[in-house]
Amino acid sequence: MATTQSYNVKFFSGEEVPLELHKVRIVQKLNLIPIEQRLKAIVEGGFNTFLLTTKTVFLDMLTDSGTNAMSDNQVASMLRADDAYAGSQSYMRLEEVIQEVFNCKYYLPVHQGRAAENIISKVFIKPGDVVPMNYHFTTTKAHIEINGGTVLEIYTNEALKVKSKHPFKGNMDIAKLEQVIKKYGASKVAYIRLEASTNLIGGQPFSIANMRAVSKVAKKHGIMIVLDASLIGENAYFIKEREAEFKNKSIKDILHAMIGLVDLTYFSSRKVSSTRGGGICTNNKAINDKMKDLVPLFEGFYTYGGMSIREVEAMAVGLIETLDETVISQSPKFIRFAVNELERLGVPVVTPAGGLGVHIDAGQFLSHVPQTEYPAGALAAAFFLISGVRGMERGTISSVRDANGNDVLADVELLRLAMPRRVFTLSQVKYAIDRLNWLYKNRKLVGGLKFYEEPPVLRFFGGKLKPTSAWPKKLVAKFRADFGDSL
Ligand code: F0G
Repeated sequence: MATTQSYNVKFFSGEEVPLELHKVRIVQKLNLIPIEQRLKAIVEGGFNTFLLTTKTVFLDMLTDSGTNAMSDNQVASMLRADDAYAGSQSYMRLEEVIQEVFNCKYYLPVHQGRAAENIISKVFIKPGDVVPMNYHFTTTKAHIEINGGTVLEIYTNEALKVKSKHPFKGNMDIAKLEQVIKKYGASKVAYIRLEASTNLIGGQPFSIANMRAVSKVAKKHGIMIVLDASLIGENAYFIKEREAEFKNKSIKDILHAMIGLVDLTYFSSRKVSSTRGGGICTNNKAINDKMKDLVPLFEGFYTYGGMSIREVEAMAVGLIETLDETVISQSPKFIRFAVNELERLGVPVVTPAGGLGVHIDAGQFLSHVPQTEYPAGALAAAFFLISGVRGMERGTISSVRDANGNDVLADVELLRLAMPRRVFTLSQVKYAIDRLNWLYKNRKLVGGLKFYEEPPVLRFFGGKLKPTSAWPKKLVAKFRADFGDSL
């Protein structure tokens, strides 16, 4: 449903409440286990929240990837899946939706976002190339580097400021883009990458004005622009909310304006359509044809690309629902509620509130923990320990070591608490805020971490760490002293 109507509901009390415009009809029981059992779980999981099982997790805010609530219409659509290896009608329906939502003629299905990154990097990157971007994502960077390319981050001065009022911290710095092209030469620039609701800097959007400026530079030098649209729904919502020219435009118009400014768009459907799967789309046949043959090689036949046909159906419905402002505004509104509360309590949090999740500034929260002892990782582990809420480290652990084996210290040390779409209630969010507030008051009890098992690539997924002192036990004792027998 394309609409230009705004869905703000004001309360008589004046309180800003992110009112849910959906109802819950299927539920899953959660486990909130005693803190002592969580201590055992986090020790066994090497103080890495990726290695916890959900039996020990109360609120899973690790990611919004593949964990969003599907709508009744999405679940219903799965029943009409036309399971065929080739030429499935479900795929035809998805192709039509891609045309409607993204205004793209050509679509290549893939099993998830990084599979799109694999194909795009293999086709368009030659050893020695550079890829300027507003900011990297972990899997994106790994795929570019494995193909011999180098990531150049050309964000604006505002991007890494934890406290900011800038509406578009995800913007690219146009002057730096010109400099980079001059320095390396346009032939060495494989493409320019723009990431919607820029994940690692706090789910921060860019504006269409900025996209237009990037496009002008790209056209001048004959360079292709690739858009990572995994979080495009939220970016479009922020454009409608914050960019005056688009205030009265429908989400569909905004999406078409964004995609009309780039040459190639790819996405993870684990985010954008609340399903699983992904895709690459374009209106340029030559670009499409360069990638096409890699789909059956790496993913599956052209008409399913590694996805189950049920997901193909649900994805088509989910993409149409992305045009509905009540759907795409839900997580940004919950995130804004949490960010406002945390700011009020003095807990250091990234502002303005973005898409994807709440980002806690672990560098400031645990300013006594040196960056070489991974404050964001320590905060993620400590927060799970005292609350059962599982967040994700987005700091130095999420980067890799340099050629000499030294840690490359991250620009920002963040604990990300993702807000999967339509999953949590407001009281659950309030619980997370309450426990974070307690942890902030007791932050001096939290110490650092060090690796004892460290994979060479994407180490944050499987690496194991241990505390640099007996801080977890002290934290448990203080929790018991303050909360008695409370869970
Ligand atoms: N691009 C962005 C901006 C992402 O956030 C992700 C995944 C990907 C690409 C890769 O997609 O997981 O389907 O292969 N982000 C998840 C996260 C993992 O937790 O933020 P994928």
